[in-house]
Amino acid sequence: MSAAEAVTDALRDLHGRFAGVREGRRADYIPELTRSDPDDFGLALVSMDGHSYSAGAADTPFSLQSVSKPFVYALALASLGLEEVSRWVGAEPSGEAFNAISLEAGTGRPANAMVNAGAIVTTALVPDSREAPAFHRILTCLSRFAGRKLDVDEDVYASESATGDRNRALAYLIRSARALPVDPVAAVDTYFRQCAVRATAVDLAVMAATLAHGGVNPVTGERVVPPEVAAQVLAVMATCGMYDASGDWLLRVGLPAKSGVSGGLIAAGPARFGLAAYSPLLDAAGTSVRGYAALGALSERLGLHLM
Ligand code: DON
Repeated sequence: MSAAEAVTDALRDLHGRFAGVREGRRADYIPELTRSDPDDFGLALVSMDGHSYSAGAADTPFSLQSVSKPFVYALALASLGLEEVSRWVGAEPSGEAFNAISLEAGTGRPANAMVNAGAIVTTALVPDSREAPAFHRILTCLSRFAGRKLDVDEDVYASESATGDRNRALAYLIRSARALPVDPVAAVDTYFRQCAVRATAVDLAVMAATLAHGGVNPVTGERVVPPEVAAQVLAVMATCGMYDASGDWLLRVGLPAKSGVSGGLIAAGPARFGLAAYSPLLDAAGTSVRGYAALGALSERLGLHLM
């Protein structure tokens, strides 16, 4: 069997094996996310030669939510460099939930760019010429990672904006410690828009593959970020991408990864592949139940564990 056939077979088998899992629940603190279909389940893998393999609902669009965070961190790193970005946001696992306060005592600096507090700061580090957060730069960057023009799910944006007081509170706390470079309202508004950017599992696999491919999109051939930035982002995904489940995930699945509350999940095999899953039913850490199970089983079946 060729490698391509092995991947195609594995995705199809694992889709079949986990499609019937009914555990978990959709995130409802962003009410619009409960409109997703709980039966949706897609898997996608993109190789370094730009070939995509998929099974199930891999072309169904959903909002990126926290899957946007590593890519906006990449944009901040590419714009400002690691030393400057690290003055504002750390790179240590928080051991806490995605929406925890997770700020360093004394400085107000968020633990890492994968938790909400750190992601709000990262977004604020992408200013436009008027020093406001620059959503157009973020959308362009996310689109280059995906290799096509992405757009915003305005209903998801409005829904999170109407209910996002916890993120606003985080932004004000950070600002009160003089650790947020822009107005908290503007930072959170841009962050909500970034979380509402819409993509499919195949798009997510291309985005992950671009990180795995040293910052060059393997489908379009475009360099999106420098190789050292892609490596820095994968490092933080490995240690912090799954929040307080990051250790368990790295132990069992062995790949840098990022989850999101709409049910998206990405993982990357450096110099090998980008992987994505979509399924809206979540576990207690906010990770897709079927996505976790399927990517874990895929890692075992194809021997993808990095260690
Ligand atoms: O800020 C929030 O709460 C959401 N926009 C994103 C959180 C998220 O996706 C957490 N990941 N599992």
